[in-house]
Amino acid sequence: MFSFDPYSPAVDADPFPYYKTLRDEHPCFWSKEAGMWVLSRYADIVTALNDWQTFSSAKGNLMTELPNRAGATLGTTDPPRHDRLRGLIQHAFMKRNLESLAEPIKAAAREVAEPLRGEKQFDFVEDFSAKFTVKVLFAALGLPMGDEAQVREKAVLMVQSDPHTRTKGPEHIAAYNWMQDYASKVIAERRRNPQNDLISHFSMAEIDGDKLDEREVLLTTTTLIMAGVESLGGFLAMFALNMADHADARRQCVANPALLADAIEESLRFNTSAQRFRRCLTRDHTLHGQTMREGDFVCLAYGSGNRDERQFPNPDVYDIARKPKGHLGFGGSVHACLGTAIARISVKAAFEEFHKVVPEYRRVQEQLPWMPSSTFRSPLRLDLAPA
Ligand code: HEM
Repeated sequence: MFSFDPYSPAVDADPFPYYKTLRDEHPCFWSKEAGMWVLSRYADIVTALNDWQTFSSAKGNLMTELPNRAGATLGTTDPPRHDRLRGLIQHAFMKRNLESLAEPIKAAAREVAEPLRGEKQFDFVEDFSAKFTVKVLFAALGLPMGDEAQVREKAVLMVQSDPHTRTKGPEHIAAYNWMQDYASKVIAERRRNPQNDLISHFSMAEIDGDKLDEREVLLTTTTLIMAGVESLGGFLAMFALNMADHADARRQCVANPALLADAIEESLRFNTSAQRFRRCLTRDHTLHGQTMREGDFVCLAYGSGNRDERQFPNPDVYDIARKPKGHLGFGGSVHACLGTAIARISVKAAFEEFHKVVPEYRRVQEQLPWMPSSTFRSPLRLDLAPA
């Protein structure tokens, strides 16, 4: 009998055959192991995202939610509360003027790529993406330099879960607590000494006399660090994997770096790091003959919607000329990713510089060690050998 357990190492390793069976045979599936429904077809996911009144985020959007986050921050509130939070934070993003980060991001990519020149083999995750991601996010958010390694380690742990208990383990909760203490100190410091950075701007953002309260500022800061570090770091690794596995596409991007923009969109469709998010039903809802009940959790499998042949012809082919309009790599509707601009600028700059130093490469491991996470999918280690 078919089963789908988003916590299982087999799904981490290759979710796509499971997704195909879900879409074709069980488009509204009750996962006993996860204790939630799974929607896997593109059209159903888009309908659910637009119907946020029924598919609520207020009980948390991570497949395994962290304590105390539900109902308090961007991914975990519904409109109108969410509109208010998002408005205040967008205001901070505008003030930070992300365009002005383009040069520092390029410089960070150059600095991290250069030591790889002439290396026979390296781990893309530790030696490039981790170092680059913290440089970009520390600059954008305004985190004090010197704490990079610890912040990254804790952010990555926060999005993981224990595949045996299917919950957050003590090490994940400890990382979350550490991050909240860290974020409180940074917020206090930024209020004493404001700079041109996201934390300074949104911790003091005000629209028509409305401000974020202390809990909102704290949980938004921890969410931005977690979302930024893991989503961007994880996606860079997935992008490198796609480039390593598709030599023709890579050579085209090396010869004409403008094509990286298209390759990034296709990678967000083909192999996004943000695979599955959760919603909770505010009322009974029937779909494909199944009645889901008020209070039930529902997994929106973005990674499956992106491979739905009903939406994308030949979905299992990685084609950088595809220009996949409406892919779900950044989610959609009211909760669409707030970091899209910074993510696109950063990934493009990263590979423009990385490809100048390492234009030809192949992956070394046949089997990759995947991060244990029911929400995100990215390798813990990706060994590349310049060809
Ligand atoms: C390539 C990298 C990234 C990917 C693939 C990605 C993906 C996503 C996805 C799929 C969602 C929707 C979650 C849901 O439906 O509940 C989301 C939301 C979000 N992302 Fe990203 N993200 C990336 C980078 C970033 C960065 C760099 C930041 C911050 C600096 C960020 C901040 C956020 C925030 C704050 C939300 C919540 C938005 C809301 O609920 O209104 N993301 N992201």
